[in-house]
Amino acid sequence: MDRIRIRGGRPLEGRIPIGGAKNAALPLMAAALLTDETLTLENLPFLADITTLSHLLVQHGVSITMTGASSAAETGHTLAISAKHIVSMTAPYDLVRKMRASVLVLGPLLARCGAAKVSLPGGCAIGTRPIDLHIAGLERLGATIELANGYVHAHAPKGLVGAEIVFAKPSVGATENLMMAASLADGETVLVNAAREPEVADLARCLNAMGGHVTGAGSDRIAVSGVSRLHGARHRVIPDRIEAGTYVIAAAITGGTIDLVGANIRDIAAVARILEEAGVVVSEAADCLRVTRANGRLIGVDVMTEPFPGFPTDLQAQIMAAMATASGAAMITETIFENRFMHVPELCRMGANINVHGASAMVRGVPELTGAQVMATDLRASVSLVLAGLAAKGETIVNRVYHLDRGYERLEEKLAACGANIERLVDGG
Ligand code: UD1
Repeated sequence: MDRIRIRGGRPLEGRIPIGGAKNAALPLMAAALLTDETLTLENLPFLADITTLSHLLVQHGVSITMTGASSAAETGHTLAISAKHIVSMTAPYDLVRKMRASVLVLGPLLARCGAAKVSLPGGCAIGTRPIDLHIAGLERLGATIELANGYVHAHAPKGLVGAEIVFAKPSVGATENLMMAASLADGETVLVNAAREPEVADLARCLNAMGGHVTGAGSDRIAVSGVSRLHGARHRVIPDRIEAGTYVIAAAITGGTIDLVGANIRDIAAVARILEEAGVVVSEAADCLRVTRANGRLIGVDVMTEPFPGFPTDLQAQIMAAMATASGAAMITETIFENRFMHVPELCRMGANINVHGASAMVRGVPELTGAQVMATDLRASVSLVLAGLAAKGETIVNRVYHLDRGYERLEEKLAACGANIERLVDGG
């Protein structure tokens, strides 16, 4: 199994291109199921999660053609996705358990075919993560849903009918699933307390390019006026705000200057605000965002994760690594997912001083972290250990690199180009 070796302590200096957003790309790919014409998606990142969803779509009968280089290029891939004939309405356990986002095929399959059978995703490393909001929403659109043998069996033989859906809490995936399903429903759907994430707005733009009528995406109230059919379109995926935020924190933790090419400041405003309080300067330059920690240690700042536009849970582990090296204390509170502190014991093995109390972690900054062998159980926790390794004295080996490959394209290449001493040890070598 591949590992990553880092010899830490070097400030990073250089330019990092930000790829297309994984979390925007996944629902966009699922949206291709809504039409029998080709949906062409540009600027897709080359990541394991994209491959997993491609496999799922292919077994539904979708044909996918990929163009665009995978290495060295600053632009991403283009996928032409054609769901002309859907041959299976089942998303099997073996594929869904690999990636929760597979559940995004439920709404489109049901809306297009009148039936769908999708495996329940089950637990995952960061908590139980139910899909009750997806199911209740589809029922409001008139679907009959049964849970049996680990599967969601959904039926709407006469099609879905628009309705008002009030989410008990904002859910990115449920908002996306319902927006897609409602696009082919009869009449108008209003989603209240919808997720406001930029990925939701990107999906709405694509649905509209396909002939849909979605308004209000990006706010907490989204209206979808159903149409009888959607057509093909060409759509460019937005930049990955979590990848950008991760490299902002890389500059902060190593004390360097990184130019993030293609990053969008509006999407990472909450992250920039916290880091500016911590002593980092984030400024807009001609074609990039420049991040500098010029002088001295970071200053400890309290952070609470929240739905967008708040600080994202997907950057909680990374900011904790940075706060572990700060001067003073930082209280980090996780409000989105239970059990999302698995990186804490690993960071402590690198010399961090962190105590968890329920949903909060008290981080008391130390002057220096030290390299160690570490591993993590999810994507963002893994990358937080890479960040800690970049700042730590000595050698850090991060195991279970496959987590990183799910969400970070050419991570070690991008960091090495900025002067990091980082390399992948292939197959235990
Ligand atoms: C998406 C992102 C993930 C990110 C998360 C929160 C993708 C592919 N993944 O995940 O990286 O961490 O948003 O920003 O876009 N919930 C329920 N019932 C449901 C659905 C969700 O209780 O039916 C809860 C979840 O357990 C969680 C909260 O709602 O506590 C938010 O989850 P949600 O926004 O749905 O996350 P995902 O869409 O799974």
